[in-house]
Amino acid sequence: METVKIAIMGFGTIGSGIAEVLEKQRNVIISRTGRVYEVTKILDIRDFSLHPMKDRFTKNIEDILNDDSISVVAESIGGTKPAFEFVMSCIKAGKHVVSSNKELVATKGVEILKAAQEAGVGFLFEASVGGTLPLISSITGILQANSISKIDGILNGTTNYILTNIEKKKISFEHALERAQDLGYAETPDPSADIDGHDAARKIAILASLLYGYHMPVSRVATEGIRGVSSFDLELAQNLNGTIKLIASCYGDNYGQARVSVRPAYIFKTHRLASVDDVNNMVLLDCNMSGIVSVYGRGAGKLPTAAVMVGDIIELTQRSDFSQLLWDSELVLDADRQEQPLRYFVTVYSDNKKLITKLVEQVDAGSITDNSAAFFTSRIMRSEAEKLKKKLETYNVTVKLYEVVEE
Ligand code: HSE
Repeated sequence: METVKIAIMGFGTIGSGIAEVLEKQRNVIISRTGRVYEVTKILDIRDFSLHPMKDRFTKNIEDILNDDSISVVAESIGGTKPAFEFVMSCIKAGKHVVSSNKELVATKGVEILKAAQEAGVGFLFEASVGGTLPLISSITGILQANSISKIDGILNGTTNYILTNIEKKKISFEHALERAQDLGYAETPDPSADIDGHDAARKIAILASLLYGYHMPVSRVATEGIRGVSSFDLELAQNLNGTIKLIASCYGDNYGQARVSVRPAYIFKTHRLASVDDVNNMVLLDCNMSGIVSVYGRGAGKLPTAAVMVGDIIELTQRSDFSQLLWDSELVLDADRQEQPLRYFVTVYSDNKKLITKLVEQVDAGSITDNSAAFFTSRIMRSEAEKLKKKLETYNVTVKLYEVVEE
């Protein structure tokens, strides 16, 4: 039986998960592929001298590059330094690479894909967007005959876990974040990439690059995280038949006009994304031929993500053609993105109950408590919504604006 030799770079949550999946699913994989997939080298700078696989660890990338028996390398280091240099070296050494690293793909995808094409090897990164969700393979595979003009999705498991737990289990932001970190969902050790929306921004930028064929820089994604979402906002949203989720969106038929964003937004309970709880992710792809396609599953976590990387490894060893999907360098153009009028969900707070009562008389408030009120605007431009916010703030109240995302 053929043995495929694999190296893992980065033996954290996901890297160790790859070894675990290969071990647990060994017989299933053999029966499906007729091959044994064996981890022969593991690159990690930490000390694993007590690990059962201790003989396979190395701190030197050359040990992988110079081992001709290794045909596939799994990169789960995270970040771009040294991941980019290592991935490029592996590709140049004629090895296929799979990666779960969204920062790497979102910022260096153009160069890596080009290098892989030149070297005649494959570079797959399904696990970089939405954990276990088959998104990239759907967009580049069975949905490729469609034009996709709209994507709305929940693409960050940590923030979705936090929002769900604040809303449903009434636990604090800090407590929910700690749990998400313990469960291995959050970017560690610094979870700000999750909380501030950068992780979801990288993922939607990768999807947008695949849709339009041009590199979508993360800097073009209007990004806002969940730090400003309070349990009161979630309660007011609930009172008005909705909830607040961190939504990543990409709207527009072409690169030039694409509006790409990540922001906490109000969605009605009837919206498909409203029932997506905890670490789960869901992405709705509005396809002009196939209609709305929803892709749902666990967006983070050790084995779900690692299993997708193993899927990519198997895929690469079964392919004979590596002419792969590429996206071009960023298309420089005059930004011609049209702002659209949208509805906003507005929350207002004050310790001064009289003030709230007075304000409620002026706006048609849909939900009112002693010290808070919430209402919807009609469809207005963002600039008008900001003006309304400023006007309300002159009464010395706290005001928050949430875009209403509709199906
Ligand atoms: N921190 C990420 C998340 C991991 O919570 O979704 C998966 O990309």
